[in-house]
Amino acid sequence: MATPYIDEENIKLTPEKMAIIGSGGREHALAWKFAQELHWDNVYTLPGNAGIPNSHPMDINDFEAIEAFCKEHEISSIFVGPEAPLANGIVNYFQESKSKIKALGPGKVAAQLESSKIFSKKFMEKHGVATSPFQAFERVSDAQALVIEKEGNLVIKYDGLAGGKGVYVCDSITEANEALEELRTNYGEDCPFLIEDKIVGDEISIIGFVDNQCIKLLLPSQDHKQLNDGDTGPNTGGMGAFCPVPFWDEELRDLVQKTIVQPTFDGIQAENMYYKGVIYFGIMIGADGPQLLEYNVRFGDPETEVLLPSLKTSLFEIFRTCFSNMLTNLPFEFNEGYFVDIVQVSGGYPKAYPKGYAIEGLDTVQEDTLVFHAGTKLENDQIVTNGGRVLNIVCQGNTLEEAIEKAYSECAKITFKDQYYRKDIGQRKNIMFKA
Ligand code: GLY
Repeated sequence: MATPYIDEENIKLTPEKMAIIGSGGREHALAWKFAQELHWDNVYTLPGNAGIPNSHPMDINDFEAIEAFCKEHEISSIFVGPEAPLANGIVNYFQESKSKIKALGPGKVAAQLESSKIFSKKFMEKHGVATSPFQAFERVSDAQALVIEKEGNLVIKYDGLAGGKGVYVCDSITEANEALEELRTNYGEDCPFLIEDKIVGDEISIIGFVDNQCIKLLLPSQDHKQLNDGDTGPNTGGMGAFCPVPFWDEELRDLVQKTIVQPTFDGIQAENMYYKGVIYFGIMIGADGPQLLEYNVRFGDPETEVLLPSLKTSLFEIFRTCFSNMLTNLPFEFNEGYFVDIVQVSGGYPKAYPKGYAIEGLDTVQEDTLVFHAGTKLENDQIVTNGGRVLNIVCQGNTLEEAIEKAYSECAKITFKDQYYRKDIGQRKNIMFKA
């Protein structure tokens, strides 16, 4: 893979070794960024994929196995990509272990800001974070009256982690009833979920770091969750992303800080939650201003694949300062221009799809193009498809248009059977912020 922003001559070799937990494009981007400071030999990805050097098989929820691996390889620090190990208490596990290995992230209580939608909405309500009104339910049939009252114009969210599949944005009573029926099929009649008002507007991902002094933000980005152009078709894990977002100005930033970021930080402190690491605000900007849709307690995917190339500041320095509650002293610096990520997926995704197709053209991209692997594996010396989301093609440009054009031209060089990708990443027609 080309690594345009790695200055090999200036890598500060430190005795530190890092383990990244996870296996997707987000983890490839994390490993790439850490490798700029620690070198690839000192950055281990568990389990990683075919594109990430120094990948090792691992069950990401087996904390004893992760600890044993870290001890064997003298790894001192752990950065967690996906939500499940955080929800399952990986940070508490390493706090309680005698190993002195540092795992950055929220403790199990704070991780509920992502792993329980009801916990999260109650937190927002209690601490005055701008969000839409909601009602919590414990039985699917209890929601019928609200569905009729709102004429099906609402959002239904399963309470627990559902891999992006537990949220239903409904436009009619029929759609809302279908969503409730799916909840019943997947989780049973007695399952926790919530219903909230639907907000129409422009969605934006605001991702930053938190320690016990402050929350410090990276550049604003936008994900493209639906499969097809024009934001149509089923929801996916993310079909592309870009940053920064042109409509994010000082006024909007101050408003988001005042109504969402600061009350969240104050709430975390007031609740005495242990939370150091990444914090993600999924925000909808509608007619009533910015409203928080959800928290994630980890980096977004595919947002990470554009945010880390845009970040000039050392990620290891951020890791270190977060741990010692010194984040407030570390200025975040960013690379110039715009960054665009196009996700290439297997035909059929997000439903069933075949795997094992040879990926051609990986060596033909320009030196400054980043290719972050997601669902890939090595089979008989050939990299083949091994997942729904297969590759992320990331390019930088002086303007958003230039970055988009470059990313699509580079994307065309890489092929595999039944490959699919959206043709309109970065070209969304905003609702509130018309050009
Ligand atoms: N990009 C949305 C997520 O990572 O959940």
